[in-house]
Amino acid sequence: MENRPPVAVKSIGKMKPQLVVLGTGFGAVSLIKKISLAHYDVTVVSPRNHFLFSPLLPSTTVGTIEFRSIIEPIRLARKGITYFQATAVDLDKMSKTVVCEQVEDKRRFSVKYDKLIICVGAVNNTFGIEGVYEHALFLRELIDARRIRNRIIDNFERAALPALDEPEQKRLLHTVVVGGGPTGVEFAAELADFMSDELTATFPAQIQAANITLVEAGKQILSTFDEGLADYAMKVFKRRNVTVLTNTTVKKVTATAVLLSSGQELPCGLVVWSTGNGATAFVKSLPFERDKAQRLVTDGYLRVKNELDIFALGDCATIENYTQPATAQVAQQAGAYLATQLNAMAKRGSPEPVGEKFKRINFGMLAYVGDNRALAELPQAKSSGIGTWLFWRSAYLTKLISLKNKALVLFDWTKAILFGRDISRF
Ligand code: NAI
Repeated sequence: MENRPPVAVKSIGKMKPQLVVLGTGFGAVSLIKKISLAHYDVTVVSPRNHFLFSPLLPSTTVGTIEFRSIIEPIRLARKGITYFQATAVDLDKMSKTVVCEQVEDKRRFSVKYDKLIICVGAVNNTFGIEGVYEHALFLRELIDARRIRNRIIDNFERAALPALDEPEQKRLLHTVVVGGGPTGVEFAAELADFMSDELTATFPAQIQAANITLVEAGKQILSTFDEGLADYAMKVFKRRNVTVLTNTTVKKVTATAVLLSSGQELPCGLVVWSTGNGATAFVKSLPFERDKAQRLVTDGYLRVKNELDIFALGDCATIENYTQPATAQVAQQAGAYLATQLNAMAKRGSPEPVGEKFKRINFGMLAYVGDNRALAELPQAKSSGIGTWLFWRSAYLTKLISLKNKALVLFDWTKAILFGRDISRF
């Protein structure tokens, strides 16, 4: 579709400053929930019209949790805001305007801001490796989880067809997960659960040929976790026949195989690519300072360096001289902090943030490793096992943003225990 000239959006009331938020992730939503609508007119721009509770995304790939249970429409997250379903593609600092592109027909329009908050997250990092975009599936959005779920079931159905030779059956039932960070590990764990429960019961003749390989470039999986906890995850995987290849990278992905740096070829029916975050095209196009990972550099008040009215937080940003992980909890805390700061600035009528700079509270890290076992690395303790899995579940249940989400997730978990996960493909 050709790009038509941007259509300017009418000024949305002149009395209050226009606060434009780019994104609907953890950072954006925690800001939107706290910002004072008495002091700002808030416009949210994002191609995704809902908030996604991504820590539970791996569970949706096998149906432990249903897709709609972990999303909340942005229009319901805070009444009184304006929302545009579009992608920010350009920024004009002089006219304080963001150029946006509609998701479906790519028509462009512009939105004026007095204060701009960039929390557009990240995209999948492929390191330019051949065949990844064409043949691998990612795990970032619900659509990705849906694709993975359908592919797993489809591969089992195809493997059960008559006249299929053994190598082809084995290929279809082999899943390769690339990247041993929390995303890759949690997905492999969920798939191992699905295979040992529902797929064993419903495909008894095929399940022996099925297996999972996790490929990790570093010397251990879950490198951000304590070594003892990562070893525990390795033991759980070993017991469940998940093969872990460390110190191994992927050179190429084809329609039927993954080629490793060692020269080994792994025939497979599904490749899930989870090698971490990269910057979005929009962030890379901005005329601001970025770090080596292409994240926007901000000061301690989350203000983009050398800018007065532009802020950035979450996975697309980094604070100068203040290292922090790219996690949901950091983005959430940053969003809430910035809302408080902006509210205070509006009340004082001051253009400058004052008081405390952003400081994150470390609530620790959790990861599910399968077989009803999880890891917890908390500031005060480290733990693993079944008790930690119960803690993992209760922690995420309390963190879900709406009562509806909490009820649905609780219902899904109960349903999976009582009736098993669904194996229909549609
Ligand atoms: P990640 O960046 O944490 O892990 C990616 C992994 O892929 C790394 O271990 C890296 O060594 C490996 N890798 C990179 N290139 C590779 C290649 N070519 N071949 C094989 N392996 C390769 O990414 P992830 O898991 O997607 O997480 C993204 C962010 O979100 C991280 O900051 C993570 O901590 C956070 N997160 C935290 C969760 C939790 O605490 N439960 C859950 C999910 C994400």
